[in-house]
Amino acid sequence: AEARPLVIAVDGPSGSGKSSVSREVARRLGLEYLDTGAMYRAATWSVLEAGVDLTDAPEVAQHVRDLDLTMGTDPSAPGVRVRDHDVAAAIRETAISTVVSKVATNLEVRAELLKRQRDLIQAARVGTHQGVVAEGRDITTVVAPDADVRILLTASEEARLARRAKELHGTADAASVEATRDQIVRRDSDDSTVSNFEVAADGVLHLDSSALDFEQTVDAVLAAITRIVTGT
Ligand code: DC
Repeated sequence: AEARPLVIAVDGPSGSGKSSVSREVARRLGLEYLDTGAMYRAATWSVLEAGVDLTDAPEVAQHVRDLDLTMGTDPSAPGVRVRDHDVAAAIRETAISTVVSKVATNLEVRAELLKRQRDLIQAARVGTHQGVVAEGRDITTVVAPDADVRILLTASEEARLARRAKELHGTADAASVEATRDQIVRRDSDDSTVSNFEVAADGVLHLDSSALDFEQTVDAVLAAITRIVTGT
């Protein structure tokens, strides 16, 4: 894995654990980490902050083309900046989560962020960098279909609900799971208007993490990478 820069693409629906798993895999392999969902979130933050009408697609697209966005790719501290604002925390808030798919389904926005994502992946392959783990919804299919390793990480709706309930409420009891259900299910259906994120494309390894905890999922991804890279 040290010999040449590695590009690892990980896709999956929300709550599949792909962000935390991808970040840990990048850390263990000494690779950069790119959270493309954070780019859509940061774009949404900026659109809202500027008071741009979310339903005005051309205006939103123009705003994103002009966006001064800086993505940090250190997996131990992946920063997100819009102009001089550190937005890493703000982009995780419900106010963003509930509307981000409006921005992410704008095809001109996707074209702009696609360019930037490819540039960031290229930058992570040169100089002292060893490569990158890039994660999102369309990395294996659109952003980096030529990645060395392509993985679709899924989990059952039940498992994803329980994980998100734990994140948001600190527990996965029945009430917390129900409070989370709407959010997860609605976001899945909003997101799926761009493409089907839950079926592995040709040549993409499908890993289901429903029965695995975090460490086991990281190990499964690392094992898959080793297998694919060494051709065994
Ligand atoms: O993974 P996430 O929840 O941070 O993603 C935020 C939004 O961006 C969600 O609506 C899915 C969308 N997204 C996308 O369309 N393509 C990507 N490569 C990554 C995220």
